[in-house]
Amino acid sequence: MVTVVANDAVLGATVDGLDLAQPLPDAAIETILTALASHGVLRFPNQDLSPAQQKAFACRFGSLEVNVANRNATGEHPEIMILSNMVDAAGKPLGLADAGQDWHTDMSYSATIALANVLFAIKVPHDDHGQPLGDTRFADMIAAYEALPTALKQRLDGVTITHDFNLFWERMRARPGSNRQPLTPEQRAEKPPVSHPAVMVHPVSGAKVLYANPGYAACIDGWEKADSDAVLAFLFRHQLQDAFLYDHHWTEGDLMMWDNIATLHYAVADYGAHQHRMMQRCQVMADQVFAHPRFR
Ligand code: OGA
Ligand code: MN
Repeated sequence: MVTVVANDAVLGATVDGLDLAQPLPDAAIETILTALASHGVLRFPNQDLSPAQQKAFACRFGSLEVNVANRNATGEHPEIMILSNMVDAAGKPLGLADAGQDWHTDMSYSATIALANVLFAIKVPHDDHGQPLGDTRFADMIAAYEALPTALKQRLDGVTITHDFNLFWERMRARPGSNRQPLTPEQRAEKPPVSHPAVMVHPVSGAKVLYANPGYAACIDGWEKADSDAVLAFLFRHQLQDAFLYDHHWTEGDLMMWDNIATLHYAVADYGAHQHRMMQRCQVMADQVFAHPRFR
């Protein structure tokens, strides 16, 4: 039997009773999608998935993205990204070491946005007392939208925001010790800046969502720069109030699936090189859910 138990927090639920490595009936996929839209962040504990099994699960919800920063990955599964601070015997990185280390929403820079990140914890870093490090922190954009001042809700009605992949990339590159290279002209051409509504209607729940994030939102289209900068700065502060935040403490074997329409997230980099972290990741696009909205 499948159970969905909500966290005692603004976001999150634990889903038990499913082995995600096995093919699931359509009814289970619908249950997960509904739970995702109502809780924003789902934890499936005690999972064990090969890359092929993770892809087979994730692709039930939409098409899978091959990340523009993962283009040169060789191997059978270009849709799978490894996030890790580990290196092989020759010192070669086993994955992307600094992914997501500031507030953002995956793929908001893409013409087709993402529905969900599916992230499986293979290795979780711990401190000397056995406490997990490398949390992922989430923020609830349905609650953030609801709490906006009415006058601002009205101002944002019908407005679009430009999102730019290079913005977050360059911000990460500017950090001391970063070994990110500038995006190539080909990478930039593949993900040019795009506009999306500042307020989206969630295709599964019908809830209104504040769709803006400090990682990629560059400007409000058609507004004076000063006005756009001031309102974006207000939104970035507003959306990260404590009341909207939830911290996930990882356990190995957790598969986390989070709503990339209605949440922001942040990978907390509070662990050292000797404290190993390894995540197996895949990104589900929102093509299927927008083509078949669940609400009327
Ligand atoms: C991501 C990401 C967060 C983490 O996979 O897009 O931001 O904690 N990951 O690894
Ligand atoms: Mn991310």
